Order: sequence, then C-alpha cells, then structure tokens
Amino acid sequence: HGYDLLVVGSANADLVIGLERRPGPGETVLGSDMVIHPGGKGANQAAAAARLGARTTLLARVGADAYGRMLAEAQRAAGADPAGLLMGAADAPGTVDSSGTGGAAEGEDAPTGVALITVDAAGDNSIVVSPGANARLTPDDVAAARDLFEAAAVVSLQLEIPLETVAAAARSAAEHGARVVLNPSPPARLPQDVLALCDPLVLNEHEARLLLADSQSPDSEPGQSPESDPGEWAGALLALGPRSVVVTLGAEGALVAGPGVGTAADSGTADGSGTVRVPSPRVRAVDTTGAGDAFTGALGWRLGRGDGLVEAVRYAVRVGALAVTRPGAQESYPSAADVEAADQESAA
Ligand code: RIB
Ligand code: NA
Repeated sequence: HGYDLLVVGSANADLVIGLERRPGPGETVLGSDMVIHPGGKGANQAAAAARLGARTTLLARVGADAYGRMLAEAQRAAGADPAGLLMGAADAPGTVDSSGTGGAAEGEDAPTGVALITVDAAGDNSIVVSPGANARLTPDDVAAARDLFEAAAVVSLQLEIPLETVAAAARSAAEHGARVVLNPSPPARLPQDVLALCDPLVLNEHEARLLLADSQSPDSEPGQSPESDPGEWAGALLALGPRSVVVTLGAEGALVAGPGVGTAADSGTADGSGTVRVPSPRVRAVDTTGAGDAFTGALGWRLGRGDGLVEAVRYAVRVGALAVTRPGAQESYPSAADVEAADQESAA
C-alpha cells in the first residue's frame, strides 16, 4: 500500500480562548488572549498519524484563504502527503450542504472551517464548528480521489463533513479493500451499510450513550440501556452492526470489543466476553482538545501497518495521553520517539 492511512474529513482553524468558567445566556465573561491553532477532526487525525511516521494523506477541503494555507502548512510540517487537500471551490460543485449545517451557496467560494473553542480551568473544552469549505466536500470529490482509496490500507472517517460524503468514502474504501475506521463525531445517524463496514467504530462515552439511546425502541431489551456499565456498552454497540468497537474512556483508557478480541492471538486479557479494557498511563491534563483525534489517527496507522486491534489500541491510548499534556490539537501530538521516551519513563 502507498498509504498506511487515508483520512477523509474536516480541516478547521481552531480559535481558542481560555476562561475560568463559561458564560450563561446573556452573560459576558473575559478570557485569555485568543490563540489560533490548526485543527479539525480529519486534519488532526492525519497530522497525528504523520507525526508518528505514517504514510498518510488527508482528503479534505479548505478555503482559498489564510486559514486554508495555515492548515496546508500544518499537514506538510507533520509529514503528511498534501495530495488529497483541496483548496477553494469545487471545480464542479456537487450537492450542496445536505448536512443542514449552513455553508456557502452552490458555486461560491466557502471560507475555511472554523472551530470556536473555550478551554476552562479544568482543561475541559466546548466547541462550536462553522463547517465552511468542509460542507463542500462532496461524493464527487471522493470519486475523483479514487487513486488515494486504491492506495490506502485504512480509511479513517469522522462526521464534520456531509454524511453522504462519509458514506461515499466508506463505500469506496470497501470497494478498494481498505479497512474502515469511523468516529461518529459530531453524532449523527449512519446508514446501516456504512455502520456495518466500521472496523472499528471509535467513540467516546458521550457518543456511545447517544448512539445507544438513539437505537432504543420502546420494546428494546434491558441490557442495552445507555445507563448501564461502560463494560457492557462495547457489547451493546457491537450489536448495532459494526465489525468491532473501541470506546475511549479518557483517563480510564479504552474498551475494545469484536471478533477475536480477548483471545490469545490478539494478545489481550480476556474477560470472557470478547471485551478487553486497555488502561491509560496517568498524565496531567492541560488541554484535551483533539486528543481523541490523536488516538484515532494513531489507531488507524497501527492497523494499517498490520497490528491486531488490541495491540493498536494499546499504542493509541499512549498517544492520546501524551496529547492532553500540551496545549492545542495538532501541535500537541507526539512523535514515535516521544511515545517511546514516555514509555521508558513510566517503566522506570
Ligand atoms: O476534535 C477536536 C477538533 O474538533 C478541533 O480541532 C476542532 O476543529 C473540532 O473540529
Ligand atoms: Na492537547
């Protein structure tokens, strides 16, 4: 494979302000100086993987503006191949903004996506995304990038681009024999055939709760309650159709579920139910923004190199933990040498 990992997704300029506490409705609070970082879930994943040494490229759309150039430069600096990055309006605009999240009118140039981020004293963030050019990444763009899909071992997806584009990318990956990794963030209902391709579906507790609640019919079985223990979530999520599931639990690490998980061949510790819990190293959280993207980018890279799922999650958990110890998203991502150094430190 020419690429260990092809990421299809969003690229945003992250406009970040630190504050003590968030304002309520009608309230004004003062915050820190604003800092602008390269971000966006797709760009973050590709940057994380490239920084670790992956052969990767990002299929995304940015505006022909200063933020777009910043994002292109950040991909290049991380070591990602710029082949997939589209800048400015589509040559032949496809269906416009089926995501219902706003965006430019057909034929118009759209600005680069922006994320307005506040980080509070506890290091927790809240994010509002204006998709801009991300909403203009179309199934036609996916079709035009068929070479990238042909060359990729793994294709990684998130939901900050139109759902029909995500679906087209997942189907193209399947057609070309690439493995699909998908993070349903921000949460949306996936077509069943797309869900069935996810190997794994990667999600945090919040996203897991929403997906389980959404799948509940009035007469559903009690074991599927979203209130139940995280240990049961992985199994309940697996029952929704993906080939495998990874639930990220922040400081508590991650849960892995799927066929063969927990067997000796997968080097996991079985709990008897096909679910393995992978612990996280203890770290001091400074800024959790994009840590999940670092996790997923690292995971996709390791799977593309041929690691087993649990093995890949063990590595990705350490990458995610290092990412929360520094401010920003992409700029906080570790190199392979950083991960090794941290491993040695924690072993000592
Ligand atoms: O997951 C973190 C990312 O979400 C940020 O970089 C921001 O751009 C939003 O897309
Ligand atoms: Na960070």
